[in-house]
Amino acid sequence: MSDVKLLVCGAFNEEERARFDANYPNVYAASPDDIAGVDADTRAGITAVVFKGHAPFGEAAMDPLENLGLIANFGVGYDAIDVAAASERGIKVTNTPDVLNDDVADLAVALMLTQTRNMIEGDNLTRSGRWAGGGSLPLNRKMTGGTVGICGLGRIGREIADRLAAFKMDIHYHSRSEKETPGWTYHAGPKSLAEAVDWYVVALVGGKETEGYVSRDVINALGKNGVIINISRGTTIDEEAMLDALESGAIAGAGLDVFVNEPHLNERFYDLNNVVLQPHQGSGTHETRRAMAEVQLSNVTAFIEGNALVTPVN
Ligand code: 8YV
Repeated sequence: MSDVKLLVCGAFNEEERARFDANYPNVYAASPDDIAGVDADTRAGITAVVFKGHAPFGEAAMDPLENLGLIANFGVGYDAIDVAAASERGIKVTNTPDVLNDDVADLAVALMLTQTRNMIEGDNLTRSGRWAGGGSLPLNRKMTGGTVGICGLGRIGREIADRLAAFKMDIHYHSRSEKETPGWTYHAGPKSLAEAVDWYVVALVGGKETEGYVSRDVINALGKNGVIINISRGTTIDEEAMLDALESGAIAGAGLDVFVNEPHLNERFYDLNNVVLQPHQGSGTHETRRAMAEVQLSNVTAFIEGNALVTPVN
C-alpha cells in the first residue's frame, strides 16, 4: 500500500497546496468526481481528505476510499458534504468556524453600502468621464439609522449585527431561539422579521434544512423598500421569487455574494440594475484564508496523530 495518507480535493491555491506538501505527502483530485479515478493502491492508503469547494461530496466520493477516516472541509459551511453518509461510514467531518466571521460580516456591510449608495454606477460614472462631462449620480437612500433584520443570528449574524449597531440601525433578528442581545428585537419567524424591516440580511447555515427558507411569502412581506443581502448560501432564498420581486419592484434591491448553481448564475440577474453581485468572496482575504487553512491542517494533524479533532462537525 502507498504511504500517501492525504488526498487534496478542490481548487486550493498554490500557497495552500504548498502547505499540504510541506506537511504530508499527498495526491490531488480536482473534484470529488475525480477521486474514483485515483489509482487503487494510492486510494487504499488515504485516511484523510482536505476538501475545498462547493461540489457535492457524497457516497460516490467516499466509497472508493476504503480507509477514509476524515474529511476536513475548507470553510465553515459543510452543506456540500453528505455528513450523514460520512457518519454511517465512521468518517469524521471538520470545518473552519469563527476565523472567517469578520470578513463575511465586513462583506455584508459592504454589500449594503454598495447597493444603497449605488457605488458601482458611481464608479462607472466617474471613470468613464461622464461625471466630468456634466453627468451626476441620482440621490440615494441613507443606510445609517435604518431598520435591519438578521435572519440567522449565529456567529456570523452576530458580527453583522454588531457592525450595524455602529450604524445606529434598529436591529431585529430571527433565529431558532431568542438570544441575549443589547435590546434587539426577536422574531419567531422569517416573515414577521421581513414585515418589520427594510434591510433583510440572510446569515443562515446552508443545507437541506434551510432550502428556500426565505420564501416568496417572506420576500413579498419585505415590501418595496426592502433590500435583501445574502452572504450565506444561494439555496437559503427562493431565488426565482427574489428575481420576480427585483424585476417587478416588489422589493428595492439586493446585494448577493452567493447564488443557486454558482458560479453559473440565473441570467435574469445580469439585466438588473438594483443588485450588487459578488463572486462568493465572503472569506476571500489573505489573512482569513490563511487562518482557515491552518484550522483545516490542524484537524488533519490531530487526526493523523490520533488526537481529538479541533473543530469536529459529526
Ligand atoms: C468557502 C464559505 O469556504 O466558509 C464557507 O462556508 O462559503 C467560503 O468561505 C470558500 O469560498 C472556499 O470554497
